[in-house]
Order: sequence, then C-alpha cells, then structure tokens
Amino acid sequence: MPDYTYVIDGLHGRRIVLGVSGGIAAYKAAELTRAIGRLGADVHVVLTEAGARFVTPMTFHALSGNRAWTGFQDGEMEDGMPHITLGRRTDAILVAPASANFIARLAAGFANDLLSALCLARDCPLLIAPAMNRQMWENPATRRNVERLQADGVTLLGPAVGEQACGETGPGRMLEPEALCEALLAFFTPKLLAGRKVVLTAGPTFEAIDPVRGITNSSSGKMGYALATASARAGAEVVLVSGPVALPAPAGVRRIEVTSALQMRDEVFAEMTGVDVFIAVAAVADYRPAEPAVRKVKKSGAALHLQLVPNPDILAEVAALPEAPFCVGFAAESHDLDAYAEGKRQAKRLPMLVGNLLGDGLGGDENTVVIYDEEGRHPLPRAPKTYLARRIVERIARLLPAK
Ligand code: PMT
Repeated sequence: MPDYTYVIDGLHGRRIVLGVSGGIAAYKAAELTRAIGRLGADVHVVLTEAGARFVTPMTFHALSGNRAWTGFQDGEMEDGMPHITLGRRTDAILVAPASANFIARLAAGFANDLLSALCLARDCPLLIAPAMNRQMWENPATRRNVERLQADGVTLLGPAVGEQACGETGPGRMLEPEALCEALLAFFTPKLLAGRKVVLTAGPTFEAIDPVRGITNSSSGKMGYALATASARAGAEVVLVSGPVALPAPAGVRRIEVTSALQMRDEVFAEMTGVDVFIAVAAVADYRPAEPAVRKVKKSGAALHLQLVPNPDILAEVAALPEAPFCVGFAAESHDLDAYAEGKRQAKRLPMLVGNLLGDGLGGDENTVVIYDEEGRHPLPRAPKTYLARRIVERIARLLPAK
C-alpha cells in the first residue's frame, strides 16, 4: 500500500462546524456528518432546538466523534462561550438543512440560540443549504432574506428541485450529502482557472464493426473525469466529451456523451468557441472499420477480414488551429516513456503532455505520471488520480498565458 501521508487532499486538516436547523432534511445531516468526516475533516455539530427534535445530538456525537452542541450551557468549554470559541477554530460553518425560519433569523442578525449566535460571531466563511417547501422558498420574504445573506457574503448551496417531504414537487429540496461534500471541496479549492473554459476528452471510443460488436479499449475514464472535476473545482467552465464509461457526470461539469472517434471529434470542434484549454485524455481508437456492417455479421468457418481506416487525430487537429487553445496531450506507453512521450509532445507541438505507462494508469484508481513541458520533465509520485489531477491543473494554470 503506497504512503499517501504527503497527499494533502480532500478536507484533511480542516475543521467544519455543521449547523442543523429544524426540518425533515435533518436526517440527511447525519449522513452528511459521516461523509464530511470521511473526507478527513474534524466535524463539530451544532443543532438548533428544532433540529434536535428531528435527530438527537447523540446521533451526531456518535457519527462525528465530537460532542454535539445545542445550547450555550452544553458540556464543558474552557471559556464557557461556545458561540465564540467554536467559530474561532473553524475553517467554515455549513448550515444544512437551513430552514426558512433559520434563514430569516440569520438575515435579521438574531443571536437567540447557539447556532445563530455562532453564525453572527464567526470569523470564517458561512455556507447554507436551504431545505423547505417550494412555496416557502418562493415566498418574497424568503427571497429577500436569501438575497440579503448573499449580499452579506454567505454562500448558497442549492436548493435542488424535486419531490418534497410534503408530497409537492419544486425547488426547496436540500442538496444530497454527496453534492454538499463536493461543494465544500470546491469551496476550498483555489480558483486557478476562474474565467477559463476547459474542454476535455475522456474514456475509450467504440468503433462499430456491426450493430452489436466493435473495437474499443479498457480506458475507464477515471483519469479524464478526475481532471474534469479538478478543473471545475478550480473555477473553470468545463465541457467533458466522454466516450462510453460507467462513471456519473462530475458536479459542475457539462458532459457530452459520444461513442466513436468521429463523434468525439465533431463534439470537440463544436465546443471550440472561447476555449482556453483542451485536455485530451481519451484513449481514442487510432483505426475504425472502413464499412461497419448494417446487420449482425454471421459466424462462418472462414477467416474474417476487417478493413480498418485511420481515425482523425483530434488533439493534433485542435493543436493545429490558427488560434489553438493551450493543448495538453496524454501518452499511454508500454515502455520507453520519456522518449515516446516527449516525442509525441514535440510532434504535435504541445506546450504540455502527461505521460503514463499502461500498466500504471489504465483502469485503476491510481496512476504514476510524468509531466513534460518546455521546462523539462516533472515526475509526480504514484498517487490517486484525483490527487494527480489537482497537480496537473496547478501546472496548467502556471503555464497558461494570461488572457
Ligand atoms: O481512463 P483511465 O482508465 O483512467 O486511463 C487513463 C489513460 C491511461 C487512458 C490516460 O491516462 C491516457 O494515457 N490517455 C491517452 C491514451 C492514448 O490514447 O494515448 P496515445 O498515445 O494513443 O494518444 C496521444 C494523445 O493524442 C492523447 O492525448 C490522445 O487523447 C490523443 N489522440 C489520440 C488519437 C486520436 N485519434 N485522437 C486523439 O486526440
């Protein structure tokens, strides 16, 4: 098992106060506590009196490993002022669920319970995830309160649109714990690509032989999806042109699903307006059957000959555009990585290329990569693809010409 102690990722070292106000979505705050903890954060839960009626403090204590707070007099705190002390040692306060009532009190600056006093006395960022009935959310009073909070610098997460506990459908559902975790991760990521448009390719392509068979490869899409996520967290507008993979679309990313190399090429070129960075991670099939059969090819005892024709090289075509974006290629090699990868970078005139050995990178969650650019070769240690993606994005941001 590799040693990842050097990997500063997720929410390791962060301290998050999770505020829970009264609403049926409070049950999801239990899962959220666990999920934020799994990302490495030290989670401290503070419930309003109404929140504690939905889920007990004991549940949050068990899930976070820390005492859960409900009032000013709870438990021991050296200075007896939890509304000050809890907030001072904290990287962010996330209130989820934030009820209409709690949002109104926050907007008006109330401090009549521990959570609202803590929010008022904070010197750290405050994020809120509203959860309420759709009429309550759309009521002008709530709209005013939310606008006021946003003007005060509070970050709004959601709400989602969908089926509600009351049986109605509309805006007001609290974001799911997974989406809230993603929002927290994005919140703490430096916005190195703010104002930039990034287009990526990822996954394999599938080149049809007949209606049921085709030529493909075992790219999982994990490296490309990790880079799309890292680019979105870094503040970019991200378009991911993806071959067939079994991964969900990353949060904050517009995914365009394609099958073949020709489709991938068309979709990439349709997205070239205003693009700053193009990252070609896809394992594009170099050849495709010249004439796919319209009907299923029947088995016979005779040898079957397939005529293959070359696919367009999408990366080379983008890099050759008169106003080409900053192009990043990938090279998957079975041996002699340095020679082949640097050779590909120069042949396609790329400012940057990421090389990996097939045995290291194809399919798994980890990879070992070397970045090649005008300044030389920069090997990165073996690590999860999510971590490597962040490092690659940092390098792109460093080399990207100013707008
Ligand atoms: O998806 P995973 O399981 O996470 O695996 C990740 C990966 C190993 C697929 C990835 O890290 C990787 O190396 N991708 C590039 C694989 C590849 O096809 O390399 P290549 O040497 O054949 O192509 C060189 C570059 O040209 C690549 O950027 C490729 O996307 C691009 N290309 C290639 C052919 C083609 N017709 N069009 C292209 O754009």
